[in-house]
Amino acid sequence: MRDVNDARRRFLKVCGKAALSAPAVAAGLSVPYSWALEDAPRTRLVDASGAPLKASALKVHENWTFQYPWLSVPVLMIRLDEPTVKQALMYGKGAEPYYWPGGVGPDRTIVAYVAICAHLLSYNAPEVSYLTYHKARNRLTRHGRAITCCAHGSVYDPAVGGQVLAGPAKHPLAAVVLEYDKETDGLTATGIVGTDLHRKFFRAHRRELRKTYGRKDWRRKVEDTTIAMPLKEWTKLMVRC
Ligand code: FES
Repeated sequence: MRDVNDARRRFLKVCGKAALSAPAVAAGLSVPYSWALEDAPRTRLVDASGAPLKASALKVHENWTFQYPWLSVPVLMIRLDEPTVKQALMYGKGAEPYYWPGGVGPDRTIVAYVAICAHLLSYNAPEVSYLTYHKARNRLTRHGRAITCCAHGSVYDPAVGGQVLAGPAKHPLAAVVLEYDKETDGLTATGIVGTDLHRKFFRAHRRELRKTYGRKDWRRKVEDTTIAMPLKEWTKLMVRC
């Protein structure tokens, strides 16, 4: 079973690779985000009734979803069974490195990623979802405890910033920055970091997004709240591979 030390070892490996490829930033922590949405909304996660979502409502290893920072951008949220690293320096092919701020919640186990694949932009939608977290090894890639895009088998590590573990993707998943309030057990999305794919995504899937989210709303930012729910309740088909 993977343990915290294993996660730490992999974190050091991530930092080590970045240090080799980007010596100018290796000495300090002032690495710019490759993409950090400047006007990202501060958006509280609520349940379907509109009540603040409690982190304790998330079952370990269950796939959850919400929309952020645009109404048509799906996010995959998971509560892992062990704490993540506190911070990881991430890099993608040809992109600036950036910091992923780690998991949140009472045990630093809750993580959230934009559910748009960095390979060819397959994504999660009410009709069908291609990106899911699975604890068990899957048949296609033999990876477990991972997020897999079953369109072509890209595998991402949810415990280390969504870094690519296998498959054709060349960039980590973009990550949603979450804030945890231990007084209320609530969760708030405050930003997004990673490789900026949203313009390509909007261009590639414009027609479906307009149909699903409405001609006026599909590019609207979410506001004060966004509804979070188990992925299986939001989508008709979770593709497994
Ligand atoms: S679109 Fe996800 S693996 Fe190709």
